[in-house]
Amino acid sequence: MDSNAYINFLAMPFAQRLKQQYAFFEEESKKGYMVGRMGSGPVGTHMPYQTLDGGRFEDVLIFGSNNYLNLNNHPHVIEKVLEAVKQYGVGTGGSPAFSGYTEQHHELEQRLAALSGHEDALLLPGGYMANLCFVNGLMTRNDVLLYDKYSHASVLNAIKMTGVQFFPYDPEDLEEYQKLIAHIRDRRGSDVTIFSTVEGVRSIDGTVIDLHRYVEISRQNNIVIILDDAHGMGVLGKRGWGTLEQLGLMGQVDVRMSTCSKGLGAQGAFLTGSRETIFYLRSNSKPYVFTTGMAHPTVAAISAALDVLEQEPQRIRRLHENVAYMQDRLEENGFAIKRGGTGIIPVFLPDGIAGKFNVEIYRQGIFANVMEYPMVPPGMERIRLSLMADHTREQIDRVIDIFMETGRKFNVFETGDLQCAG
Ligand SMILES: Cc1ncc(COP(=O)(O)O)c(C=O)c1O
Repeated sequence: MDSNAYINFLAMPFAQRLKQQYAFFEEESKKGYMVGRMGSGPVGTHMPYQTLDGGRFEDVLIFGSNNYLNLNNHPHVIEKVLEAVKQYGVGTGGSPAFSGYTEQHHELEQRLAALSGHEDALLLPGGYMANLCFVNGLMTRNDVLLYDKYSHASVLNAIKMTGVQFFPYDPEDLEEYQKLIAHIRDRRGSDVTIFSTVEGVRSIDGTVIDLHRYVEISRQNNIVIILDDAHGMGVLGKRGWGTLEQLGLMGQVDVRMSTCSKGLGAQGAFLTGSRETIFYLRSNSKPYVFTTGMAHPTVAAISAALDVLEQEPQRIRRLHENVAYMQDRLEENGFAIKRGGTGIIPVFLPDGIAGKFNVEIYRQGIFANVMEYPMVPPGMERIRLSLMADHTREQIDRVIDIFMETGRKFNVFETGDLQCAG
C-alpha cells in the first residue's frame, strides 16, 4: 500500500476498513504476504517454520530474532525456571501494587538496580508496557516530551494516552535538538518540565547516536532523560549492560528502560532510576498499578539470564564477531548496509523490492524481518537482519549466497540507487 492509499484507508468507516484489510490479506497471501508466520519449537539459529502455503513446517535459518545471546533455552535458565515453578507456581494473581508482588520480584529488582548504577528498579511484564509506564506515570499535560522521531510504537501510543505535549527530534542532528529546547524554553518559560526519550540502540537501524553529547546538552538544559535500551541490553558493554556501559555513562540518565525479551531471552522489562522516581512510578503509573505482576517463571528466567551473562561473557564476543563477519560479507558483495556495531544490520533495498525480496529469501529458507512503508518512510525500505551468538559461519555464508541470488533476480545491483538510507 502506498502512502496515499494508506491515508485513504485510515479515513474509511470501521466496517469498510475491516473488509478491505481482510481482502488485502487474502490477496497478498496468495503472493506470499507474511504476517505472523508460525514456527515450531524453541527459537534458535534455525527452527521449523510454516511454508508459505501454510501446508507444512520446514527448517529455516533464523536471522530475524532478538534472541541475540540464545539465552531462551540455556540449561541454567531452564533449571532455574523449573525450580521457580515448583516453589511459586506460575501466575502472581494480582497487580504488584496489590497482591502480585513477592520477595522473588523484590530480589530481582534490587539486583537490576545495583547492576545498572541506579537506586531502585521496577519490573513490568513487557517492554511495551514499560514505555507506557514511564510516559503515563511521570508526565502530565503540562509537561513537554521530546522524542526520537523514529521511536518505538509504544512511546508514540503512550504520548497519545497521556496528553503530554510532544515534539519529535532527530537524534542524529543534536544541533537542531539544542535549538528545539531553546525554542520551547523561550515559549514556555524556564519552569516547564521537559522530558526527553532516546533509544540506546536505535531499533530502526541498529545504530548508536552520540549519547555523550546528547546527555551533555540535556543536562545543561535541565531535561529529564529517559533511555530505552531494548536492543542494547545483553549486546553492548563488556558485561552486557548495554549502551550506557559501553559508553561509560552508567547512571547518567534519569530513567533507564531495558527489555528482558531480547538479549536476556525471556520476556518483560525493567525501569531503573532514583528511589524517588521509582516510588513515584510504583504509585502513579496506571500501566504498572493495573496489570498483573510478572509471572514467576519469567522472573526466574531473567535472573538466570543475568547469571549466564556474568559467567559466559564470550557469548557477547561471539555475537559481535558474527555481526562484523556478516557486515563485511554483505558489503564486499555490493549490498548497502549501516554499520551500527550492534546485533542489527539493516540492508537497504530499492523501494518496492524489500517485501518481495523477503518473501523470496523465506522460500529459500531464511527468516528475516522487512521494514516497508508505513513502518519506515519511503526511500528507507530495508531487510533487517538480527544476528545471534550461536550463528555459524556456514549459516552466514548461506544467507549471503541466497541474498546474492535473490538480488540478481530482482536486479537490485543494476538499479544504481542501492545506497544507505538516512
Ligand atoms: C526500542 C524498543 N522499545 C520497546 C520495545 C518493546 O519491547 P517488548 O517486545 O519487550 O514489549 C521494543 C520491541 O521491539 C523496541 O524495539
